Formats: sequence, structure tokens, C-alpha cells
Amino acid sequence: MPDTQQFDLVVIGGGPGGYAAAFYAASAGLQVALVEKDTIGGTCLNRGCIPAKAFLETAAVARHVQHAKDFGIESSLAAIDFSIAQNRKQRIVDGLVKGLTGLTRSKKVTYLLGAGSLGPNRTVTVTASDGSIQTVQGRHVILAAGSVPRTIPGFEVGGPIMTSDEVLMLDRVPARVVVIGGGAIGCEFASTFADLGSQVTILEGLPKILPGLDADLANVVVKSFGKKGIKILTGAKVNGHTPVGDGSTRVHIEGMDDVEADAVIVSVGRRPYPDLLGLDGTQVRLSDRRFVEVDAYCRTGEPGVYAIGDLINTPQLAHVGYAEAVLAVKDLLGESPTPVQYDRVPWAIYCHPEVAWAGPDEEQAKAAGFDVVVAKHPFRANSRAQILGEIDGLVKIIAKKNPDGSAGQILGVHMVGPWVTEQLSGGYLAVNWEATVDEVAEFIQPHPSLSELFGETVLSLTGRTFNG
Ligand code: NAI
Repeated sequence: MPDTQQFDLVVIGGGPGGYAAAFYAASAGLQVALVEKDTIGGTCLNRGCIPAKAFLETAAVARHVQHAKDFGIESSLAAIDFSIAQNRKQRIVDGLVKGLTGLTRSKKVTYLLGAGSLGPNRTVTVTASDGSIQTVQGRHVILAAGSVPRTIPGFEVGGPIMTSDEVLMLDRVPARVVVIGGGAIGCEFASTFADLGSQVTILEGLPKILPGLDADLANVVVKSFGKKGIKILTGAKVNGHTPVGDGSTRVHIEGMDDVEADAVIVSVGRRPYPDLLGLDGTQVRLSDRRFVEVDAYCRTGEPGVYAIGDLINTPQLAHVGYAEAVLAVKDLLGESPTPVQYDRVPWAIYCHPEVAWAGPDEEQAKAAGFDVVVAKHPFRANSRAQILGEIDGLVKIIAKKNPDGSAGQILGVHMVGPWVTEQLSGGYLAVNWEATVDEVAEFIQPHPSLSELFGETVLSLTGRTFNG
């Protein structure tokens, strides 16, 4: 095929998994093509993590203004012009898109705008929006086509019914918000809009919100959400909705009263998006749930073809996509990398209060057969938390019990409270270094700091404490 340009690596999908793979491979000296049909940065940058956190920061400013009086500063939250928050968010996103685009040039990655589909012999056909087609071939191919929001029957997107894609384009704060699904996305939006003055109701199908989270942490979130006036209805089975006429709608819930809303945010998970990848004539296989099937090194069934990120059945987190990108590139370079340890990756939910953890929670550790020692310390007693006026939350550490009953290896570090997404790194390191309580207790934390609570919780597991 004379028209087919050859590359060491062709990456399909320009989200965190895809661009990380492209740039990492380029920095290892490979000739790389990156195929993206829309905007580089993918869901995380354009329709996910970054814009959602930008709105959470607007919500934090509203909270600070509301509590400014406690610090002796007279002020009141007069009005919110959310269109300014929308523009600010978009400037941040556009700036980061520009940065990534610049990196494709400086790293000499060939950027191909169009939908990539994989055929036999690692040949990728790139179809641009004007219908023009070009073909490239990689010695290796990485599939990183990501995911899209799941929807539920009876809640087709349009008008007040939104997924995260539409919510992130809003230029007003809806007066009444119903969030269907109390997972990470649902809790982040519930927190944002409650802090901005919306009346928020979360409808969660299971018996509790954040179902995957350690119960002690989830309880703190539930209490804090209650203080914000967020109503949480669990065991809620939604049964469609009836538009009211003024742009709002009435959401029907089995066995419960209807809830009226100006915005209904459907956040019931994301599904993989292999839809445009072709794959005919290849050994790439999809599971029943349409995840691309891979081994521990992200290799698909087709020799030389890898899949990473939300396209495979691993935690749907941008930083897991980064890790899988590095893993796949090292593997194709023949560097014998270590597989990602998915049960120890860092998790972070940016609602207020924030949640962050690495390693198993108490129940999971016990279910895995570990005899454990657990310590929990509240932020209420931490000086920096009091200075900030942010005392809701705790640090919980799960350690292996030694034969003599003392606490040994740190298995899990779980945090809820102020800025814990920024504090997790010490805990993450301890879990992944397989460090013991005695080893970590030797490390010094700055005083006063929020991270002291991690240090004190570890210290208490040695059987001795400064306080408490
Ligand atoms: P999720 O899987 O975290 O939560 C979905 C929630 O919806 C669950 O609690 C589930 O029980 C509930 N649910 C499902 N169907 C329902 C129904 N018909 N009615 C009521 N409730 C229902 O999914 P989410 O929040 O949409 O996030 C998608 C992915 O993105 C997740 O894997 C998440 O980890 C990731 N993400 C991570 C973030 C972070 O780390 N900060 C932020 C946002 C998303």
C-alpha cells in the first residue's frame, strides 16, 4: 500500500490515555501518530474532570463568601453570574488544549484529525468529518477511544435531562436539580449546585450513595451533604418523567412522591466507546459489556495491538489511563514492565468534603482474609482544619495485624475532609511501598498542617500517641 504512512505506534483516541501514550512513546524515540476525531484532551479535559473541578472551585468561592463573616469579613452572596464561571472554565480548558496541541508539535507526534478504525495488519483508517480518508499503519497500535455517559430508558437527553456532557455547558444555576445516581459524578455535581444555592435531590438506586466507599467515609459525606440541604433518596427506582411546560419536569420514582426539577443530571456510570473502532478482521475482542478484552499488560488478542483507559474494564480514572499508557509503551518496547496494581490505585472524589483513598477499605481487607488493626482520627481535632474552618472528615488507616496483635503493613489509607485529594500521596506511597506502621510513623509531618492527621493516625497504630 504505497499511500499508507508507516509509524512505530498509532494511537487511536486523544484523551489522557491516548495522549500520554503518544507523548511517552515519542519521548522514547518512537515515530508516533495520534488519531483524534474531536478535541485533544478527551473526556477528562473537555467534558469531565477538569471542567467539573473548575465548577467545584466556583462553588468553593461561593462557600467562602458565605462564611466570610466567621473570619471577620463582612460580605454577602448577592448574585451568581454562572456565565462567568462557564467562561472561566472554558478558558482553562482551551488553554490546556492549546498546551497539548503544542506538545504534539514539540514532540513531533503526527496529529490526525478524524475517526480511526482498526483493520487487519494494524492498519488504521482515519475518516475526517468532511469524509476524506487516509490510511496509516503502525508496528504497534494502542486503542484509547474512552467512554461515554450511560443513559437510562425514559431519560433521553434533551431539555432539562442532561448527562455530565450537557451540565458542563450550562451558563446558569438551575433552581432545582435532581441527580440520578449517587456515584462520583453525581456527588460532585450535587455538591457544586448545592453550594451555588440550588435545591438538590440525589436519587440513588442502591441503599447508600457512594456504594463503593468505606462506610465511615460515606457517612461523613452523607452528613455534610445534609448540612448543605442536599436531599438523598436511596433505594430510588426512577420511572420516567413528565415535562411540566416551563422547561422543568416532574421525575417519577416508584413508591415515592414525584420530584420537580429544572435540571435532571443522569450520572449512572459511563460505558466504553468502541463504536467507531471497526476491528473487523482483527483478533480484538469485546466483552458482553463492550469493554475491549486485554491481559495484565493491556495487550488485546491481536498481536501488537493494545487497549487502555476507559475502553477496558479497569477503574475509569484519567491517572489509571496514564499508568496503562506507560505500561503498554514499555511492553511494546520490550522493557518487561510491572502490571498496574488496580487494587492500590489512588481514588479521588472532589465533592465537598473531598474523598480520597488507596488500598482496600476495612470491609474489603477483612473480606480478603486479613486480620486487621484500624485507626480513625477526625479532622475536628486538627489545628489547621480548625484554622480553615473545615472540620468535617477523618483519616482511617487499615493495617495488617501482626501475630503479636500489633499493627504491621499499611493496607489502606482512606480520607474524607479538606483538601484530602492533595493529601493522599503520602498514604498512597505507604500502601504501594508496602510500608509498615512503624516505618511510616518515623516520618515527620509539617506543623500545623492537615497532613499531620495522617501522621498522627499512623502513630496511634504504634500504640502510642501525642494526643487523643
Ligand atoms: P458510578 O458508577 O461511580 O456511580 C453510578 C451510581 O449510579 C451508582 O451509585 C449506582 O448505584 C447508581 N445508579 C445506577 N443506575 C441507577 C438508576 N437507574 N437509578 C438510580 N441510581 C442508579 O458512575 P459515575 O458517577 O457516573 O461516574 C462514572 C465513572 O467516572 C466512574 O467510574 C467514576 O469512578 C469516574 N469518575 C471519577 C471521578 C473522580 O475520580 N473524581 C469523578 C467523576 C467520575
